[in-house]
Amino acid sequence: MQVRTPAAADAVRSIPYEFFTDPKWAMAEEARIWRSTWQFGCLQHELPSAGSFLKVHLGRTEVILVRGQDHAVRCFYNVCPHRGTELVDDAEGCRRSLQCRYHGWTFRLDGQLQHAPRQEHNEEFRPEGANLVQLQVAEIGPLIFVHGDPTALPPQLAAPGWAQAIEESSKSFCGREIAIVHRLFEVQANWKVLIENNLECYHCPINHPTYTRVQPTNKDLMYYPDGLHLRFTFVDDGPGYAEQNKIDGFYQIKPGERQRPMVNFLWPNFSFNMQPGDGVLVLSSVLPTGPQSCVYERRYCFLPQVSDGQRTDIIAFLDQVASEDVPLSEANQRGLNAQVLPHGNLMLPWTDRGVKWHEDHYRQYMGC
Ligand code: FES
Ligand SMILES: [Fe+2]
Repeated sequence: MQVRTPAAADAVRSIPYEFFTDPKWAMAEEARIWRSTWQFGCLQHELPSAGSFLKVHLGRTEVILVRGQDHAVRCFYNVCPHRGTELVDDAEGCRRSLQCRYHGWTFRLDGQLQHAPRQEHNEEFRPEGANLVQLQVAEIGPLIFVHGDPTALPPQLAAPGWAQAIEESSKSFCGREIAIVHRLFEVQANWKVLIENNLECYHCPINHPTYTRVQPTNKDLMYYPDGLHLRFTFVDDGPGYAEQNKIDGFYQIKPGERQRPMVNFLWPNFSFNMQPGDGVLVLSSVLPTGPQSCVYERRYCFLPQVSDGQRTDIIAFLDQVASEDVPLSEANQRGLNAQVLPHGNLMLPWTDRGVKWHEDHYRQYMGC
């Protein structure tokens, strides 16, 4: 019998459970994670013309993505520089300028203050210091990302392998008309619980019967960690989706096309998932709404070659898998809240490898 030394036991421990339950850590994550990492904003297609805007979140902080008159995309905190009111109420839309509802300050689409009522009567007022607070924006293929730190390295330097993989895999979606199906799942679990669920398929054989019918899930995923980038896919044996294509026909994989999903995950919360074939892309992010709640936001993107019938089947399939993960994550959270155990015991080096990768980065960013 192998006797574990304390050092070996430490190596396989998960992060302490208080990081999934205690509001003080959720609060600390706002600065240490959500304003210190690249966050997915939206697709270029979702800001189609000058004046298009969309509200998104960095953690729990709202920001506005806006396409300017010059067609450049900019991002601002959704906070008025006058007395701090939330600036834009609508979730999305198209406007010539952004006006605060409280006292009517109006900002150009580039964030400059255009006019503040009565500014001419207040000689001490300094309009040049009253612009919207801007964040950094990066565009990779058809995707737009934002970062709360204006001095942060661009994703092409912070995660070069990931940026390159996205550029290459998303080429066919650039400048094309695509159908985007948006999904929001509200989950009563800490955001990391759901992310960790997404980074392993150990739970698949007994929780995703439909998925397991078409994709062998009895082996560990293949992980390729590279800094903030984690690429993973399924093993290269078994019938895989090519077999499913014969059974259900909905992915319509042609010879030479991708047979299995390939996920390119960017730490901490974004996954770019190319589905089998060449016409379907799934973008997912998980964002906290509280210490023990989050939203699981997904975009299913389809190229025109995917027929209406295929699209309906693929959406039903993807929704089914996601809706099976939600109650699992909520049950996981309830167990963590029981405060019976201080930490988990990971199956390493293979099965929980993705979970460990995520937690190692978490320790670094949180300094724990
Ligand atoms: S708080 Fe926005 S105009 Fe006063
Ligand atoms: Fe799952």
